[in-house]
Amino acid sequence: MLHDGAHRMHHDIERILFTESQIAQRVRELGQQISQDYEKLLGEKIFREPPIAVGLLRGAVIFLADLARAMPIPLELAFVAISSYGMSSSPGELRVVKDLEVPVAGRHILIVEDIVDTGQTLAHLQELLNARHPASVKICALLDKTPRRARAVKLDYVGFTLTEDAFVVGYGLDYAERYRNLPYIAALKQSAITT
Ligand code: IMP
Repeated sequence: MLHDGAHRMHHDIERILFTESQIAQRVRELGQQISQDYEKLLGEKIFREPPIAVGLLRGAVIFLADLARAMPIPLELAFVAISSYGMSSSPGELRVVKDLEVPVAGRHILIVEDIVDTGQTLAHLQELLNARHPASVKICALLDKTPRRARAVKLDYVGFTLTEDAFVVGYGLDYAERYRNLPYIAALKQSAITT
């Protein structure tokens, strides 16, 4: 039976890396910083052409929901979904399974990603968006997991850096579609990972 303590750890969790309050604090800081940068960049134009925050489905949904509310500027929200063929551990071929529904030519885009691992997904999305001639493309990643980086991507805003190659879940991040609703970010027990 589940106890009502909000912090009761899921039994598949090995260790919490970032707590709910650490995440909330960092998201507030990011929201403020990003908003200030766009205000500086756009001035009064921000009211006519607000930036578009483009979230990657499904991992970035929870992060974007909180980040957007920490940004006190005009903002539009949009979503894309990219999936990879083949094994999850190999780069595989990437495919857009849900594209943007709005034209982005001349618009300022903020890509919002949950975690950057090899960098393939972001590199692919950047190429796709750049071909549509946006005014600018910036990237905000909640987690920058560095050990397996294969494509160099410039991250403009990073929540937390992970230097260990841990598989993490929670706050939108999944393993086999589970654990996205955990309020913290944690490393999964090896026993919970079926290979
Ligand atoms: P990349 O293309 O290798 O950078 O992978 C990015 C995608 O892989 C992310 O959007 C996640 O969906 C997934 N991913 C990578 N590492 C993790 C992890 O530790 N936990 C959950 N998902 C991950």
